[in-house]
Amino acid sequence: MIKGCNIYHSYNGISVLCGIDIEIGNGETVAIVGPSGSGKSTLLHILGGIMPPVSGSVLFGDTNIYSLKEDELNRFRAKNIGFILQLYNLISNLTVIENVLLPSQIMGNNNKDKAINLISSLGLSHRTAYLPNRLSSGETQRVTIARALMNDPSIIIADEPTGSLDIKMAEEVFNLLVGLVEEENKALIIATHNEKLAKMCDRIFKLVDGKLAE
Ligand SMILES: Nc1ncnc2c1ncn2[C@@H]1O[C@H](COP(=O)(O)OP(=O)(O)O)[C@@H](O)[C@H]1O
Ligand SMILES: [Mg+2]
Repeated sequence: MIKGCNIYHSYNGISVLCGIDIEIGNGETVAIVGPSGSGKSTLLHILGGIMPPVSGSVLFGDTNIYSLKEDELNRFRAKNIGFILQLYNLISNLTVIENVLLPSQIMGNNNKDKAINLISSLGLSHRTAYLPNRLSSGETQRVTIARALMNDPSIIIADEPTGSLDIKMAEEVFNLLVGLVEEENKALIIATHNEKLAKMCDRIFKLVDGKLAE
């Protein structure tokens, strides 16, 4: 379903990714592990349509996403890709439910029932009307997860989504994501430092020296 082909990336002439090939099918969960600074976030941003690589391509089915025009890519991403970023980017003057609703509003819907269900499944019902500055970091992380799932994306890309959660909550959130992948034949790509979670994925890739080894 998603395929990265011969991806190279560098920042200011310093190579980070040196020829990455990766293919992830429907219903698959994939972990990307590797030391801090090895390029996990860079790879996820490229696969998720957030940043074009210096060279190489990303295919979604038959669509070469970086050949789309900017507005086409934005729509494609909103519809198909749920990205859980490593850094939280909630809108500070919107409440929890308003933040979670945003992706659906971008697509011209305002699916409040779905937002309420997601917020509840992430254990945040009591925080629905809170502004982000009143949330703990673990709660904030769960709001970003709810928001990423709002448009029912076929692929979920999660950059260390459980880094701020305690062990029990990390496993609950991970199980929620895996459950969605299994029930709805989605794909999940997750960068994680948590070995236990990585081992629960179908496949583990290690990113070292700009190369990916399974
Ligand atoms: N926007 C950027 N500009 C310059 N260097 C960057 C940028 N983003 C990441 N890097 C560098 O690229 C390397 C890989 O970063 P990153 O993809 O964030 O790794 P990871 O997620 O595995 O920690 C690091 O050395 C980092 O400092
Ligand atoms: Mg990172």
